[in-house]
Amino acid sequence: MPKYILIIGACGQIGTELTLTLREKHGGDHVIASDIREGNDELMQSGPFEILDATNYDALEEVIAYYEISEVYLMAAMLSATAEKFPMRAWNLNMNTLFNVLNLAKDKKIDKIFWPSSIAVFGPNTPKDDTPQNTIMEPSTVYGISKQSGERWCEYYFNKFNVDVRSIRYPGLISWKTMPGGGTTDYAVEIYHKALAEKSYTCFLEEDTKLPMMFMDDAIRATLQIMEAPEENIKERSAYNLAAMSFTPKEMAESIKAVIPEFKITYEPDFRQEIANSWPSSIDDSKAQKDWNWQAEFDLEKTTKAMLENLKNRV
Ligand SMILES: NC(=O)c1ccc[n+]([C@@H]2O[C@H](COP(=O)([O-])OP(=O)(O)OC[C@H]3O[C@@H](n4cnc5c(N)ncnc54)[C@H](O)[C@@H]3O)[C@@H](O)[C@H]2O)c1
Repeated sequence: MPKYILIIGACGQIGTELTLTLREKHGGDHVIASDIREGNDELMQSGPFEILDATNYDALEEVIAYYEISEVYLMAAMLSATAEKFPMRAWNLNMNTLFNVLNLAKDKKIDKIFWPSSIAVFGPNTPKDDTPQNTIMEPSTVYGISKQSGERWCEYYFNKFNVDVRSIRYPGLISWKTMPGGGTTDYAVEIYHKALAEKSYTCFLEEDTKLPMMFMDDAIRATLQIMEAPEENIKERSAYNLAAMSFTPKEMAESIKAVIPEFKITYEPDFRQEIANSWPSSIDDSKAQKDWNWQAEFDLEKTTKAMLENLKNRV
């Protein structure tokens, strides 16, 4: 039987590329995109789209019944930097959408869920280098608290109700098709746009702030890989650590200078510095490698090449 997939928050940084990739794989009509706003032309023209507020359980249930959805990717959330400005809105959005989807699976209205977690589940007391899968987790941001609670609930719904929910702790994601949506690692996308347009960039983090990052192609591949893995291979039902590369803004600027020698960077850290300081510098993802054969393909040099080439061709 053909399966129908629903993407919630399909117009965001990850949702857009995830929807396009899933549509290529399963056929446009089998992948329903939904969001509270419309997306870019490529997304809107490649298959069905619904305006849907995922905090509204009845509206969500109606879309799922209408399209006979069996698999849901829940990408709607308020990200780290914006969440610090609107704590209660972030908590309500991030938790209520997750409960809605988990409860639909508990009631057997859907079979499988993907819900993304983040490196923000870790906090200032977590070991910073090669952060293990299981370690101290005392997040100090609104966003991190919501993601950590989300992880606990995912594991709970798996243990108590056998809900097949799968999750990854994404690092900061770098992409060229869609702009990022209010996170602490947004600099790593903005920098390429400014490097091409103005040959200079003012970074909102200090030059030596090392954070775990990943190119979007790797993130989408990981997402499909964990969702396609046999159920018995998914041994971690909170969320898997996932890694590709770690670098500082200074190192990123150097990689751009190798292609655009006149590029200049200056630093004006703002409130996002404190968020970044609470996160790991690098991640140990050996469990994802072992359980479902995860292996990253993009390092910083390859990412810079892909970003600059794709953004240049788009202009
Ligand atoms: N981008 C990253 O670097 C990163 C890193 C770690 C984790 N994540 C997680 O991945 C997921 C997707 O992130 P993203 O970067 O694509 O975010 P984004 O902000 O770019 O996109 C989120 C989308 O959700 C939509 N949305 C907001 N409220 C909604 C609602 N009530 N109902 C339906 N849709 C709604 C927004 O309109 C937006 O299009 C989030 O859970 C985020 O926490 C992202």
